[in-house]
Amino acid sequence: MPPKCLKTEMSETVTPVPTTAPQEAEILAAISAALGMRLVVLVGMMGAGKSTIGRRLAARLNLPFVDADTEIEAAAGMTIPEIFEVHGEPHFRDGEARVIARLLDAGPAVLATGGGSFMREETRRRIGEKAVSIWLKADPDVIMRRVKRRADRPLLQTVDPAATVNRLISEREPTYQHADITISSREVPHDKIVDECLDALHAKLINPAPPIEIVSAAR
Ligand code: S3P
Repeated sequence: MPPKCLKTEMSETVTPVPTTAPQEAEILAAISAALGMRLVVLVGMMGAGKSTIGRRLAARLNLPFVDADTEIEAAAGMTIPEIFEVHGEPHFRDGEARVIARLLDAGPAVLATGGGSFMREETRRRIGEKAVSIWLKADPDVIMRRVKRRADRPLLQTVDPAATVNRLISEREPTYQHADITISSREVPHDKIVDECLDALHAKLINPAPPIEIVSAAR
């Protein structure tokens, strides 16, 4: 993780010696210990970088990486576009919820979920019980740039994919906000986003904010 700047008593900003490997190893070990049997689950829109960031985050935490979409395809023996075409979206959503429930029972891992899965209340509840969730929040233009590269998202096979992305964002963001942690996914090196995820996990799991003492002005 990049070193943070410290302020001296003179208010002069100094950069400390870069974080050494053993310090980082301690931080990563502390996160893993605090997670215990819980998973880290990445939620958010298509193209938010859940698989790319998830794979790197898993490597840093020395945990397995699991991609829910890949597991759904393996369980169905079909690709996601084929499932949508042959069986329709409701069938896909039921299978998605079952596969994610099974993965959440399978022990510690970093799990990237499909963009629509967190919309199901039952899946959110299961994630809340078994995992710490991170919403990778991306702007519409970032999402559009990334999803344009692939044609394997059935929901975006519309006359106006940009309008579809905007509609899905406004429908889903109020729900994504229920994730434990929000990280802005933007066009910076992937490792910077991974570092931010690790910092946020550390802050959430190891250094929870102390309760605020309210002192009454009337006393
Ligand atoms: C979907 C997102 C996709 C995949 C399916 C539906 C969605 O996964 O599950 O095409 O509803 O947003 P990614 O978010 O990994 O692209």
